[in-house]
Amino acid sequence: MSVELYRPGLEGIPAAKSSISFIDGKQGLLEYRGIRIEKLAEQSSFLETSYLLIWGELPSQSELRAFEHDIRYHRRIKYRIRDMMKCFPESGHPMDALQASAAALGLFYSRRALDDPTYIRNAVVRLLAKIPTMVAAFQLMRKGNDPVQPCDDLDYAANFLYMLNEREPDELAAHVFDVCLTLHAEHSMNASTFSAMVTASTLTDPYAVIASAVGTLGGPLHGGANEEVIEMLEQIGSPENAEAYVDDCVKNKKKIMGFGHRVYKVKDPRATILQDLAEKLFAKFGGDRYYEIALELERIVEDRLGSKGIYANVDFYSGLVYRKLGIPTDLFTPIFAIARVAGWLAHWKEQLEENRIFRPTQIYSGQRDRAYTPLSER
Ligand code: ACO
Repeated sequence: MSVELYRPGLEGIPAAKSSISFIDGKQGLLEYRGIRIEKLAEQSSFLETSYLLIWGELPSQSELRAFEHDIRYHRRIKYRIRDMMKCFPESGHPMDALQASAAALGLFYSRRALDDPTYIRNAVVRLLAKIPTMVAAFQLMRKGNDPVQPCDDLDYAANFLYMLNEREPDELAAHVFDVCLTLHAEHSMNASTFSAMVTASTLTDPYAVIASAVGTLGGPLHGGANEEVIEMLEQIGSPENAEAYVDDCVKNKKKIMGFGHRVYKVKDPRATILQDLAEKLFAKFGGDRYYEIALELERIVEDRLGSKGIYANVDFYSGLVYRKLGIPTDLFTPIFAIARVAGWLAHWKEQLEENRIFRPTQIYSGQRDRAYTPLSER
């Protein structure tokens, strides 16, 4: 194995062929199955987009109706899963709760028939349907309340907000939330998707695939950054402090959360759409003092780091949107996971179509041929 081929983090190394999403990081362009994200955010819905990602084509009207219907009626979770979740410590992070609950689904749906399209479809429906219910259930249970049952009259996004807040959401809030899910549904070969694909390549069950991806998404360099953005804005406190904060980070080589991306070298197109959604919410429900800080921070980061290609990423404005929707900060990443299940499932399906188990190699850098010193002599 040649050392020249080695790239830490596999940076720039293609690990698979995929026709699911396309990113041009220099132009700030993202397409799902060839369709621009701006178009989907404006005209599609999260479930229609999920269908597109997973099966490669936009559904016909009847296909979409059937898909939405199936998901609507599979939202409930078994009481044993709820009981298991009740035993989780309320101080635990909701991402850990989600990872454990997603993995637990594998206990209940243990049949594995990866070459059967009906099995694949059922797993897709179950995961898309039940993950939001599990996120909302943990949120209520950790507050000491009973979980709220899904409401069959509400569509996907509205139902999640209903289960979370125990009341029907405002129409604009539900619409904005649905667009947020669309924006987060897929993003090519990132860490959690790679994790899902490695797990999928062993031909294990889809619940283990999603559980491993959830675990990977939770880290602060990946999906966990949106939580840290809010903490950072809190710490900065007011727009006047933003400049000193950025200068201190640059001087001490500290990462500014919500900025920078391995692929985008301009502003993330999703950040632009999220900023617009945040403004729509502020216009209807009143502003957020953090937004003023965010605007000033973005201006200064662009000034100081724009020449290095460091601009706002998807996580920068998503937290402000979720805050306005009344969502607690530590649910931001589980919500990211609710959306990204669509992308992970698309990659799972694609992986199965031409599977080869992931088994990279390594460059051994340890010692060889050492003597064993008996314990009595150490
Ligand atoms: N703030 C300040 N400087 C930064 C930032 C940032 N957010 N991001 C990168 N840089 C600087 C680095 O210090 C480095 O500078 P140097 O060349 O002088 O040493 C240079 O830009 C390259 O940085 P890397 O970390 O090597 O870039 P990489 O492509 O590996 O990192 C990453 C991408 C992990 C997203 C990084 O930008 C980061 O940590 N951002 C903050 C966390 C964040 O917002 N994550 C969410 C990403 S989007 C997502 O996963 C959904």
